[in-house]
Amino acid sequence: MCGIVGYIGPRQATPILVNGLRRLEYRGYDSAGVSVWQDGKSRVVRCQGKLQGLVEKLEKEPAPGCVGIGHTRWATHGRPSDTNAHPHKVGRVSVVHNGIIENHLKLRQELESAGAKFSSETDTEIVSHLIHQEFETGAKNLTDAVLGALKKVKGAYAIVVLDDNAPDTIVAAKNASPMVIGIGEGEHYVASDVTAILSETQEIIFTEEGEIVTLRKDGYSLTDLDGKEIERAPQTIRWTAAQAEKDGYRHYMAKEIHEQPRAVVDTLAGRIDLEHDNVTLDGIEVDVSNIKRIVMVACGTSYHSSLVGKFLIEDMSRIPVEVDLASEYRYRNPVIRKTDLVIAISQSGETADTMGAVQLAKAGGAKVLAISNVLESSIPRLADYAFYTHAGPEIGVASTKAFTTQLVSLALLAIHLGRQTGELAPERARKILAELVSLPNKMADVIEHGAQLQIIARRYGKAKGFLFMGRGNLYPIALEGALKLKEISYIHAEGYSAGEMKHGPIALIDENLPVVVLVPQGPLYDKVVSNLTEVRAREGKVIAIATRGDNDIGAIADEVVMIPDTLPELQPILAVLPLQQLSYYVADYLGTDIDQPRNLAKSVTVE
Ligand code: F6R
Repeated sequence: MCGIVGYIGPRQATPILVNGLRRLEYRGYDSAGVSVWQDGKSRVVRCQGKLQGLVEKLEKEPAPGCVGIGHTRWATHGRPSDTNAHPHKVGRVSVVHNGIIENHLKLRQELESAGAKFSSETDTEIVSHLIHQEFETGAKNLTDAVLGALKKVKGAYAIVVLDDNAPDTIVAAKNASPMVIGIGEGEHYVASDVTAILSETQEIIFTEEGEIVTLRKDGYSLTDLDGKEIERAPQTIRWTAAQAEKDGYRHYMAKEIHEQPRAVVDTLAGRIDLEHDNVTLDGIEVDVSNIKRIVMVACGTSYHSSLVGKFLIEDMSRIPVEVDLASEYRYRNPVIRKTDLVIAISQSGETADTMGAVQLAKAGGAKVLAISNVLESSIPRLADYAFYTHAGPEIGVASTKAFTTQLVSLALLAIHLGRQTGELAPERARKILAELVSLPNKMADVIEHGAQLQIIARRYGKAKGFLFMGRGNLYPIALEGALKLKEISYIHAEGYSAGEMKHGPIALIDENLPVVVLVPQGPLYDKVVSNLTEVRAREGKVIAIATRGDNDIGAIADEVVMIPDTLPELQPILAVLPLQQLSYYVADYLGTDIDQPRNLAKSVTVE
């Protein structure tokens, strides 16, 4: 999500850090900062806003020195501000951090009771305090202090630490957040992405989970968290800067499709309360005794996630849910009651129609909960409660990881509401929570099998139109599959409830129409199979998305894409992945501008 750079060597660190951060700015851009060591102590310069703000501040208050760490931030805990910007310095220790500390609430309480004074709202500052505490209680050197602190931390992180008393080292640690080491001649680098340091060196070591690096000017050591030495030779990376920004993928959309398992881990981080078979919603306390109805408002892909949300929330909490396009809701004089909870979903948090719907709902006295990916964006700021998906910046115009993390957020919300209304039994909640935890691996499994979608895309990519069909909670996924294909390949596509087929769209079917049918195992399987057979009987080309192990479907479909088994409630999260890949590969085959399709903008801030 955020970007990290560190340098140790004979040259001035600040220009190298700023140059690296500039290359990472696309990942997070609400604030930036550096900590650079000279003459016995490090100097921290931080600034809210774009990197240019930091550059201007550094011109006025330079930070000279040959050892330093830098960070560009995409806020997750604590709004964007100078004080929440990294590095966070406590005593002699400066820390930059990517990822999420899951047990941050507990650690913060413990540190505060031990007398620690916090100056920011971030989870990162906890790490600075913990390392400081390790020094106070006798840690011999920075590596030991970091190791001691990390034993207490749960979560996904990449951290880089600078110690005023040990300017000949930088220590970095990684757990489930990317981190690379750059090898130079008498100088070394650390960064969250190769992009940041590729202009300095092409000799790169990719670190793995639970590894810790101690960098010096003239060398480095890589160990595991028990201090055991690890040998790993550097690789020579010959990516161009543009390739590196996309982690070697050709498009942001491909990168973001592959980021989804990681993004879902971040959405879940710190929110699952297995002890009580429940979910903690970052302190959000919605009093269900006052809610008679939920109304969901959103646009585009976020509207499709709201449609899935209706299934999840009604099923688990039995609170009635209505879903509206924000652009319709705001102009149709809707009934708004004080007993309504309006859930507004917006990746960007800036969509004009969703904003208009939220203003209307608030004016009518309803409570509003916003689900967004962008901390402190307008819609969550306006809402009574804000819940963040933690997907990280989404650059490709076609939404992918924002969508799946919205679905996971809605599943968490549904569990929370269901446990409060008492309609969701603890055993069922436990089962769903366990399945949510196993989803990232299943998602990775689907995405890794993407080559098959590339073949299918080439086979059907010249079609004039596509039909997508699903039933129940997969009907919104059919809509989303059609929207993805339209957006980036410009092929006309329609999403339909499979049960509606005979009421009209069946007239479209002939041998030239590819029909994508979502038919995983579940309560509606037989019904969808009979819809699929009707397509086949009219010579439509059937691309079936089915559950691995379904041995019958191959006989009645032209193409079968298998996805792992999961609970029916969570199937949309897996089923949408091959549809994202299909649209990506069709667009790539047709040679359209995938990341910036014609006529579309990432954030629709006008009506
Ligand atoms: C589709 C897409 C758009 C957005 C819509 C709402 O891939 O990206 O349909 O989903 O413009 O945007 P947000 O979620 O930012 O309100």
